[in-house]
Amino acid sequence: MKLLLCNRDGRPSEAWLNDLRRALPEAQVDEWQPGVPADYDAAIVWNPPQQLFDEQPQLKAVFNLGAGVDKLMALDLPPDLQIVRLEDAGMAVQMAEYVCHALIRFYREFDWYARQQQEQLWKPRRPWERDDFPVGIMGLGALGARVAQAVRQFDFPVLGWSRTRRDLEGVRCYAGKDELSAFLKATRVLVCLLPLTDETRGILNREALERVQLGGYLINVARGALVVEVDLRNLLEEGHLAGATLDVFEDEPLPPDHWLWTQPFVNVTPHISTQTVRRDAVVQVALGVRALMRGALPAGVVKRSRGY
Ligand code: NDP
Ligand code: OXD
Repeated sequence: MKLLLCNRDGRPSEAWLNDLRRALPEAQVDEWQPGVPADYDAAIVWNPPQQLFDEQPQLKAVFNLGAGVDKLMALDLPPDLQIVRLEDAGMAVQMAEYVCHALIRFYREFDWYARQQQEQLWKPRRPWERDDFPVGIMGLGALGARVAQAVRQFDFPVLGWSRTRRDLEGVRCYAGKDELSAFLKATRVLVCLLPLTDETRGILNREALERVQLGGYLINVARGALVVEVDLRNLLEEGHLAGATLDVFEDEPLPPDHWLWTQPFVNVTPHISTQTVRRDAVVQVALGVRALMRGALPAGVVKRSRGY
């Protein structure tokens, strides 16, 4: 089997090539260059250019070195090309850490204490009731389900929303558009872990965010375009939302003059809530390639009609 690696966004290709070659000694793995012969079976990619697919129409599968396939799906891909994504691959535990940190920072008011320290002010604040902080997780897939379990460990009430109904221990599960409003109304801290698709783009608009309980908080760790930024800004300024932790943005890197950098009680990180773990990703890709070689279906195949 002949494999092409095209790993953009400053990831060092040398290390990936070496690890992939070690994991798949039976395959030939080459780095993609424009104009390489069109005789490869599959590509292993992160943010590839359209040119790769234009020049390699014979590819049977493309392995995405990330969980989200929105950028890949935005390209013009042959209709029968199989898209395979990473499932967890060391990312779920990182996501759980990130979300629990953001949630606890808000709940325990650490941003207030940081301000008080600047003023050398010793002033305990009255603690909140945990039951007043129901945490609603949008998206209960590989990452959302792990986050839900981690949040439960801190005894917060946990709710979840997905397209089809899930059954997770200790999580009040809602499903589909009809139950979105009830889910949001029952939520104070909203965690977004949805894929970006035609159905979910802009889902966190004014109408939705306004339903979150007063004094609510948004943690967006999925994709920036799920949130309508102007609506978020208005709800923060009106005080309906008390703050947000945002790891992803419509425009990345976040432009230097963007209002979110300086918005009070908004914490910004540069798309690092999880970072690909090369060892785990290579193991998963190798398993997928071997499944393809056997004529079996790799784990993590994207349903193209659904968009994730
Ligand atoms: P999964 O595909 O495993 O899970 C997606 C979840 O979203 C599922 O529960 C799915 O419902 C639900 N969902 C999808 N569409 C809808 C819809 N229209 N209405 C309601 N629910 C919907 O994805 P992962 O958990 O692996 O990843 C989620 C996203 O996180 C990725 O797509 C990516 O964009 C983002 N991400 C961000 C990272 C970062 O560093 N910031 C890192 C990794 C991922 P159902 O269960 O019914 O299928
Ligand atoms: C991913 C990401 O989707 O890193 O894996 O955002």
